[in-house]
Amino acid sequence: MKRIVLAAVAALTLGAPAALASGEGDLAAQSWSFDGIFGQYDRHAMQRGFQVYKEVCAACHALKYVAFRNLADLGFNEEEIKAIAAEYQIADGPDEAGDMFTRPGRPSDQFPAPFANDQAARASNNGALPPNLSLITKARAHGPDYVYALLTGYRDPPADVVLGEGMNYSLAMPGNQIAMPPPLTEGQVTFADGTPATVEQMSRDVVQFLAWSAEPTLEERKNAGIKSMLFLALMTGLLYVSKRRIWSKLH
Ligand code: HEC
Repeated sequence: MKRIVLAAVAALTLGAPAALASGEGDLAAQSWSFDGIFGQYDRHAMQRGFQVYKEVCAACHALKYVAFRNLADLGFNEEEIKAIAAEYQIADGPDEAGDMFTRPGRPSDQFPAPFANDQAARASNNGALPPNLSLITKARAHGPDYVYALLTGYRDPPADVVLGEGMNYSLAMPGNQIAMPPPLTEGQVTFADGTPATVEQMSRDVVQFLAWSAEPTLEERKNAGIKSMLFLALMTGLLYVSKRRIWSKLH
């Protein structure tokens, strides 16, 4: 019995593989600032990642459930958030005449979707539906590694592979075919902090942003975990000392 338990513990703790298998795709495990029990998001990377989402991915992908005011988590102040929100036109209404209208965004608004509905999204994307990105790192196995591998994993197809019409060859996608054209090219965005915009850098940063949008409360969760471990350690010590005290009188 003991041996089985030991083997299970060893498998759980030592078995972190360097390469993760996901379907037929090929995934390398990356190291992220938000990994591990002390993991935290990297504010600078998230801000750059937000810029990549805004300037590139938002043309096709929605970011459902994320409101502009949530961007405070990235380190933006109230004024900056107001300015970001105002760059968007939000559908609102009806007005007194019963008509719908658009107005500049407010911090309480959510990011508007790029297409009015799924049909319009498919019609613009060769029949394929660009999924909502706000939860994508949770919706796929090994999400952050997978999205990074997807963005950096476009290649020319091997000679013996015939791609479907409008499809692209991808090392990460199970089946190796994806309808999304390679979204990132070298130097596509100009980062405000001067970081060179390589495809790898933009991919890492947008993953950092999407990991946050999928789990904005990760840091609180981890802090609560650490606090409970400290509490349990302290309690164990106290209980041990009191046990020794109490039993010492019985000898
Ligand atoms: C020109 C439109 C377009 C742009 C720009 C675009 N995508 Fe996509 N994306 C798509 C389409 C279409 C699909 C669906 C692909 C499929 O099902 O084969 C997709 C699928 C995806 C998927 C899901 C893959 C899966 O496992 O199903 C992810 C993740 C993704 N895109 C991330 C991004 C990121 C991050 C960016 C910005 C750097 C981006 N996309 C930019 C059109 C786009």
